[in-house]
Amino acid sequence: LATGPLAGRHVLVTSGPTHEPIDPVRYIANRSSGAQGTALAAALRDLGANVTFVTGPASVPPPAGVRVVKVETAREMLAAVEAALPADAAVFAAAVADWRVENAAGQKMKKDGSGQAPALEFAENPDILATISRMGQGRPQLVVGFAAETETVTAHATAKRARKGCDWIVANDVSPATGIMGGAENAVTLITGAGAEDWPRMAKDEVARRLAARIAAAL
Ligand code: C5P
Repeated sequence: LATGPLAGRHVLVTSGPTHEPIDPVRYIANRSSGAQGTALAAALRDLGANVTFVTGPASVPPPAGVRVVKVETAREMLAAVEAALPADAAVFAAAVADWRVENAAGQKMKKDGSGQAPALEFAENPDILATISRMGQGRPQLVVGFAAETETVTAHATAKRARKGCDWIVANDVSPATGIMGGAENAVTLITGAGAEDWPRMAKDEVARRLAARIAAAL
């Protein structure tokens, strides 16, 4: 049986990108590797939590010792998250596609020789973090979101916390000059109801361990 401060607690983590199909062989995606979400799931597991890890098609393998639920699209991710509840805490580290292709084709799209390119139409995806943050009965006690920003990080992330209705936001500056996106280090600001805390730049694994410890202390 697991021991540690999170023993007996169920924590849900979303991670990775989503893929939104254009046709059966093509999709829209983003550059998320899933590294920070994977490190976080491992750190929560190491504190004894029972972790459900809902992951899009990430480029790093999921951690051992957690329950892995693999999904492709944002709508599948929301359904998997809802099916995994109840949870004591939920951390939304996934880079969910904001839009899906509304007119995705049932068969592989073909060039028809006319020189005309197909027109894709987009529909907005559900916001999983906001949906879970705003559920009444059954809402996890602690809901944590992420915010990747390229400017005025704290102000934007503080506004995002209010807009989404989550308890904490982990904000980071993903401007290309920081080398954070796709890199091994992160420099985050933790926004809670008590204000903003700037953490020094450190390895993503260390960010994960500190955040897991804060989650354990809050539950
Ligand atoms: O609004 P933005 O995409 O910047 O918010 C990022 C946060 O919201 C992340 O925690 C991300 O996992 C979550 N999110 C979500 N569902 C979406 C879009 C974002 O859960 N459709």
